[in-house]
Amino acid sequence: MSVRKIKDGVYAVGVNHWDRKLFDEIIPLPNGTSYNSYLIIGSQYTALIDTVDPALQDGLINNLKEFKDLKVDYIISQHAEQDHSGSIPKILEMYPDAKVVTNEKCKELLIEHLGIPDEKFIVIKDYDKLSLGNKTLTFIFTPWVHWPETMSTYLQEDKILFTCDFFGSHYATSELYAKNSEIVLEGAKRYYAEIMMPFRNFIKSNINKIEKFDFEIIAPSHGPMWNDPKFIINAYLDWISPVVKNEVVVLYTSMHGSTKVIVDELYNRLVENGIKVTPFNLVSADLGEIAISLVDAATIIFAFPTVLTGPHPLGASITYFVNAIKPKTKFASFITSYGWGGMTIKWVKEHIGNLKVEMLGELEFKGLPKKEDIEKVNEIVMRIVEAHKSIGIL
Ligand SMILES: Cc1cc2nc3c(=O)[nH]c(=O)nc-3n(C[C@H](O)[C@H](O)[C@H](O)COP(=O)(O)O)c2cc1C
Ligand SMILES: [Fe+2]
Ligand SMILES: [Fe+2]
Repeated sequence: MSVRKIKDGVYAVGVNHWDRKLFDEIIPLPNGTSYNSYLIIGSQYTALIDTVDPALQDGLINNLKEFKDLKVDYIISQHAEQDHSGSIPKILEMYPDAKVVTNEKCKELLIEHLGIPDEKFIVIKDYDKLSLGNKTLTFIFTPWVHWPETMSTYLQEDKILFTCDFFGSHYATSELYAKNSEIVLEGAKRYYAEIMMPFRNFIKSNINKIEKFDFEIIAPSHGPMWNDPKFIINAYLDWISPVVKNEVVVLYTSMHGSTKVIVDELYNRLVENGIKVTPFNLVSADLGEIAISLVDAATIIFAFPTVLTGPHPLGASITYFVNAIKPKTKFASFITSYGWGGMTIKWVKEHIGNLKVEMLGELEFKGLPKKEDIEKVNEIVMRIVEAHKSIGIL
């Protein structure tokens, strides 16, 4: 990616990772991702906001080399995670007089993760300002989007808010702006679902904090920039609101087809009753798609067979993941087929303590489902229908 000018003295110098397939070694990236870095050249000083993943640091270095006689005075580190900070040591080698400007918590993490020496830092506090001459930066602490040390940076003269992971999207593009497109929004939702959703309760106060500043552009450190900031802020407000949608997510797998008979029955009956159903076969499902669906869904159904006295390992794994990302889901139901006995449903219930869900029935059946098992499915369906009606979404 070549250097792109955003405003006079403000440039995008980050890199696209078009062919990255997996984030955090777990979330698929159908459209790649990007690590954005921004260069701000003021009349007196020059600042670089965030760097890039070390795997692509040559791209950042080449971009910086495009600026004749460039001297970086400040490296603003908004987040210590390596996809943004990992190239700081290399940039410090290139510009030995540069200082890393960040908050106390981020400094500590950068020392621990990257071994940056103590004397390289300038530590700032919430709302501190840094003048570059004709351009002024204000630092706004926005904790837990994504780690405890994350912060945003406001560039007053150009009305740009740099937000790092906050409002970021997994979307590699040569375009500077998101243009409110659905596909970028999907990339942003994929980012939110895995990274931000567990810290949903911190997001409102961070939005309140940043909204006190007058900005026209949100410049995150993943994906394109938002030149209609309301669009992405409203999407976030929708995702974090306690309101759920008339949707059921079914997380299933079935070795010999017995559990699948019930999943198909559930699917048909729920759809007949006007509920959107998204089934995910855990063998092949994209974990990002599952997380995205759980941003809105009112109900989750866990459906997998019993293996070696407990849940099928794919079921155990998804239970752990769902519990960790803490969706706002309100209702849950549990299905398992077994051969001679086991503890699958008990195990799943014991491992979803983070979910504030009302249980809407469970079904344990031996081998293939029988007539009475199908009847039990209809009972579960009716309870889901009633539950969705009771909160006014059906
Ligand atoms: C590897 C393996 C281990 C199993 N372990 C148990 C078990 O510990 N307890 C049990 O009741 N059934 C066990 N079963 C039997 C299955 O739970 C049973 O066949 C069930 O009907 C399979 O459902 P499915 O057709 O949806 O895969 C096991 C089956 C397999 C293949
Ligand atoms: Fe992060
Ligand atoms: Fe990130």
